[in-house]
This record gives sequence, C-alpha cells and structure tokens, in this order.
Amino acid sequence: MKVVEPFPLSDAARSFYVQRPVLVTGGLGFIGSNLVHALAKIGARVTVLDNLNPKYGGNQFNLNGVEGQVELINADQGEEKVLQNVVGRFDSIFNMVGQVSHIDSMEDPYADLYTNVRVHIALLEACRKVGHKPKVVFAGTRGQYGRANGALKRVNESAPIAPVDVNGVNKHAGEMYHFLYSHAYGLRSCSLRLTNTYGPRHTMKTSRQGVIAWFVRQALDGQEVQLFGGGDQLRDCNHVADVASALLLAMFNPAADGEVFNLGSEEPMSLLRIVERIVAVAEKGSVKHIPYPEHLKAIEIGDYAGDYSKIQKILGWLPSISLDTGLAEMVDYYRRNRDHYWRA
Ligand SMILES: NC(=O)c1ccc[n+]([C@@H]2O[C@H](COP(=O)([O-])OP(=O)(O)OC[C@H]3O[C@@H](n4cnc5c(N)ncnc54)[C@H](O)[C@@H]3O)[C@@H](O)[C@H]2O)c1
Repeated sequence: MKVVEPFPLSDAARSFYVQRPVLVTGGLGFIGSNLVHALAKIGARVTVLDNLNPKYGGNQFNLNGVEGQVELINADQGEEKVLQNVVGRFDSIFNMVGQVSHIDSMEDPYADLYTNVRVHIALLEACRKVGHKPKVVFAGTRGQYGRANGALKRVNESAPIAPVDVNGVNKHAGEMYHFLYSHAYGLRSCSLRLTNTYGPRHTMKTSRQGVIAWFVRQALDGQEVQLFGGGDQLRDCNHVADVASALLLAMFNPAADGEVFNLGSEEPMSLLRIVERIVAVAEKGSVKHIPYPEHLKAIEIGDYAGDYSKIQKILGWLPSISLDTGLAEMVDYYRRNRDHYWRA
C-alpha cells in the first residue's frame, strides 16, 4: 500500500485536535472524508453530517477504517431544525458540503443554488438561532475568479471575482454568507479557495466531478483518456491530504479568522502533461484529443495557477506531495478498492 506524507502539522496544532469534538459536513464526500481520516488519526472526536445524495460524491466506503471512531448523522444540511440540535456541540465545524460540477451547475442552477448556498445559510442560521458561535471553515474554489490570469501569472486573493459559471457565482455567495454571519453574529469563519484536488476517495462514477479522477479511471480501464482540444490549459493540482492539512491549519490558527486563502501547487502544468503523467504512473491507457465541445467553451477558464503565498506566510502551509507521488498513491488506492468506486 502506497502512502503519502502531507504537509505536517505542528505539535500545537495536533494537540488542538486531540479529543476535540469536530463536525465535518459532507464528510462522506471526497475532501470531507479525507479530512475525517486525518482528524481521526490525530485523535479528534469526529461527527459527520451527510445525506449521501447520489448525485454527489459521497460514499459510505470513504470512512472505511475509521467508522468506529466517527459518529454519522444522516441528514440533509438544508434541514435547519436538525442542525439546531447538532451545531451547539461543536466549536469547530468544517463545512465541506458542496456541488462541484461546473456543467451540472449550468444545467440545473437550482440544484447548485441549494447545495452551494441554501444549505450553508441553514447551517449559519442554526448557529444564530441557538446562539452558538463556532468557527466554520468553508471550502471555496478557484472558480470564484473565473478567467483570472494570463499564462503563468499566479492568481492571488485580490484578483477580481468574475465567475464564468453558475457554480462559481454560488460558491462565492456561499463564502460571503459565512463572512456576513461572522460580521453580524460573531461566529468565526474563513475560506480556502481550492483548486484541482485529487487523490483517494473521489467519486469515479462520472466525468463531471473532478477531471483528474476521470482521467485516472479511463487510464486504469486501459482506455483512451479523452482530452478536449490540445489540453494546453495550465492547472495546478493539490493532493487531498495536503488540502486536509491546510484545512486543519485554517481551523487551528486564529490568524485565519475572516480571511480567504488560495491553495496551489509548485509547478502548474498543462492538462496534456497531467494526462501523460497519469498514463505513465498507471502504466495503462493512452491520450486521445477530441474536439472541444462548443457548448462548454463559454465556461472554460483557460490557464489557472493559484498564488499560495498568503497561506504560506500566515499559516505556514505549503503543498508537499508531488504530482507523481500523489498519483502513484491514488492509482494504488483505486486498484485496491475499485469495486467500491466503479459501479454506477
Ligand atoms: N474536489 C475539488 O477539486 C474541489 C475544488 C474546489 C472546491 N471544492 C469544494 O470542496 C467541497 C467538497 O467537495 P468534494 O469534492 O469533496 O465533493 P463531494 O461531492 O465528494 O462531497 C460532497 C459531500 O456533500 C454531501 N452533501 C451534498 N449535499 C448535501 C446536503 N444537502 N446535506 C448533507 N450532505 C450533502 C454529499 O453527499 C457528499 O458526501 C465543495 O464545497 C466543493 O465546492 C472542491
């Protein structure tokens, strides 16, 4: 079994979590469940709230190995009454529920609005109504910036907010509700604007949620990995274990309160190069260029590379897992657990 070494937490940060009650909403999904594994390893008392909506990336198997250490609340985060009975137990809430598909957000903007905005208002309202003031860490996205940069220029947090899809608009609204409730009602919040996140426990059911996961699936199936156009758009990729470290630091460190932070990777690379790395690591599959679908051109963001100097300076975080090391662990994970992810 291959393992990765994510960005390490200080002793103080680790002690903060030992025996601490922590709520992870969306904790059966990709990022949430990897965070749950990291928290369980440190010794936190973790509760997950998730409704396993089949449209999204949740998977009961994602808690394999830590089920005994985790309390699971099967509920819709839009149900504010349920949340009112839950939130008061937690001073630390990682709010990881979300809808990630850009295409789905254009086809069903109401569903995106529900999952990226409505449910977050419900969580924040529940805190307000029971008079509880936890710290809430939100998962924002680089999609809030839209087509933010020219080639190789890194996007920092002061770049204009200019989403090119419904998802980006709603994610920004979701983020702003957290800061609004902080300002108006005294809870604390911060947002990490994530970029392409890859690794184990991602859904493998659809091409629409997470392009790297879909490329990995095609490669592992020995198929042609289909790349729209030349694949020369730059992307930065973070292994999910590094993302979990960043989320843990953001919750632990009061200097993060009220702040937004970009993540990013040391070496942005073209989608073509990412696919070539996947095929090389998987030792299967091949690259096939197909015409860029006309209907998707309007929501293509072009090159993106996040400037992560702010989180480096304030929280001390750095991406630690190289793409090749991370892909090797990811490929190994799905080879061992394929049956839990491949079925529709
Ligand atoms: N994956 C990425 O590359 C990426 C990039 C940028 C931002 N993000 C953000 O990170 C967050 C997590 O993304 P992910 O990739 O883990 O997604 P995911 O789909 O794997 O996980 C989302 C989880 O939320 C749960 N959920 C959805 N609606 C719910 C509801 N109403 N009530 C309770 N649970 C509900 C789902 O069942 C699922 O387990 C999202 O907010 C997303 O926008 C992810």
